[in-house]
Amino acid sequence: MKTIDELIAEGVTSKRVFVRADLNVPLSGTTITDDGRIRAVQPTVEKLVAAGARVVVASHLGRPKGAPDPAFSLAPAAARLGELIGADVAFATDTVGESARATVAGLGDGQVAVLENLRFNPGETSKDDAERGVFADQLAELADLYVGDGFGAVHRKHASVFDLPARLPHAAGDLIATEVGVLKKLTENVERPYAVVLGGSKVSDKLGVIDHLLERADRILIGGGMAYTFLKAQGHEVGSSLLQEDQIPAVLEYLKRAEDKGVEFVLPVDVVVSETFPDLKAKAPTEHRTVPADAMPAGFIGLDNGPETNKLYASKLADAATVFWNGPMGVFEHPDYAEGTRAVAQALVDSSGFSVVGGGDSAAAVRTLGFDENAFGHISTGGGASLEYLEGKTLPGLAALED
Ligand code: 3PG
Repeated sequence: MKTIDELIAEGVTSKRVFVRADLNVPLSGTTITDDGRIRAVQPTVEKLVAAGARVVVASHLGRPKGAPDPAFSLAPAAARLGELIGADVAFATDTVGESARATVAGLGDGQVAVLENLRFNPGETSKDDAERGVFADQLAELADLYVGDGFGAVHRKHASVFDLPARLPHAAGDLIATEVGVLKKLTENVERPYAVVLGGSKVSDKLGVIDHLLERADRILIGGGMAYTFLKAQGHEVGSSLLQEDQIPAVLEYLKRAEDKGVEFVLPVDVVVSETFPDLKAKAPTEHRTVPADAMPAGFIGLDNGPETNKLYASKLADAATVFWNGPMGVFEHPDYAEGTRAVAQALVDSSGFSVVGGGDSAAAVRTLGFDENAFGHISTGGGASLEYLEGKTLPGLAALED
């Protein structure tokens, strides 16, 4: 993979450089609630600016349906990028249309433009190679060189991620280089004990990675909405908690394999429950209580790990030499259900091992809960991307940068 420094050394002055970033940041209306992904691509943009390139930044945001939708505009992200780099950032109101062409043509050396959300064009995410190819051809007309730096999207076989680098001389940006370097540490000669904490809502999203980690990790700690499918598989009542009944056979197989292989599988021993799901906007205090994980009352929803679980998980992480964490332990957006997530974050901060926080939600959680990012070994910008990397899959956006 060519590095951005090698690309710059070959000469980028006055060249139009397309930077595929992942500016898919959480928004409340037009307010960015966590700008971590924009800050993550900043060094690459600044390097190109300093080298006199004409920088064209492009990304997706959310999952619009292949047509313009103001709710998914990248305008707030473009404005934030401008604030961060301390310069005006031009914004094109389309992806490959008149506005994009005029905006790019208007760039001087060392200036930056952001294109509108790439997913406003159906060609970006199309499963049809030809349709993606047409969009990639149009994007290629806007640039001379390509830098892949949207780590969060490298698992997507999308036009700007996979097809466009085949059409332009390309290199990997600094963010991709860092992310891949860290994930390699978790797959090659990992330091033991190696503990993995998996949370979030869906077991089905994590099956591949659990399958893979059963061969590699020493301990797997489960929390968040997906824990209730494991508890149900063990025969416990889970009330109205999130449940993926169809995943129970897979979960039982994993529990059995873990036992056979001597991998410690750790599930919550107590949980915080409520009769209703909390209002995440108002964040008003709720009626809730802590119950043993094997005695959840019918009709109640499990919303967080309980205090005994928090202690147990902290003890399982204390002596780990390596920890990978993906997915919150509860509904951390509400203060009544943030303790489980906070406890895991704190355990990682307290541990002297190497900790990697993977995933948009977990990364946003540690920041919104007020933790110092520098207290962790690495906070990945990729959720699905880091999981698929750990599963050993070939990621289209990395493969495209290889040759
Ligand atoms: C993410 O948020 O994980 C990335 O930006 C990819 O987004 P996607 O899952 O909508 O492709």
